[in-house]
Amino acid sequence: MHRLVYFSNANLDLNLSSIEGMVEMSAERNRSLHISGTLLYNGLNFLQILEGPRQALTPLYLQIRTDSRHSGVVKLVHERISMRSYPEWGMKLVCGAPEYTAATRESAPRNGGLYAMVDGFFRFGQAAACAELR
Ligand SMILES: Cc1cc2nc3c(=O)[nH]c(=O)nc-3n(C[C@H](O)[C@H](O)[C@H](O)COP(=O)(O)O)c2cc1C
Repeated sequence: MHRLVYFSNANLDLNLSSIEGMVEMSAERNRSLHISGTLLYNGLNFLQILEGPRQALTPLYLQIRTDSRHSGVVKLVHERISMRSYPEWGMKLVCGAPEYTAATRESAPRNGGLYAMVDGFFRFGQAAACAELR
């Protein structure tokens, strides 16, 4: 079994409800492929953790990479694991606090945003972060 983690720039035309719909579909599809994981979203970036059998993970990642809903996909981790971290989720969306408001995010720096993103996940509770992205 393998774990794959990537970071990407979200297409700024996306809104939270379209992402929720995509995650719902992904969760169902992932379960049928024995893939589990989580998708972090903060209005600017995605960080996705995918875990499952390598034969299923690699083609899924290649497909996700080409999805026009994001760009600049950077693989951070690809490792063998003996246990899943998210056994109960096909895919679960977790919101983080946006670093910038909707008005300023067009001009937000998009490179090196990984640390800002992680930081934002510690700033607010889940519900507050999701509400801010709506
Ligand atoms: C950030 C992001 C994460 C995604 N995660 C998954 C996923 O975990 N599982 C999945 O099946 N599709 C995921 N997708 C969607 C796929 O790229 C693709 O649209 C989906 O697998 C359906 O492919 P199809 O339209 O060729 O059937 C993700 C897309 C994006 C933009």
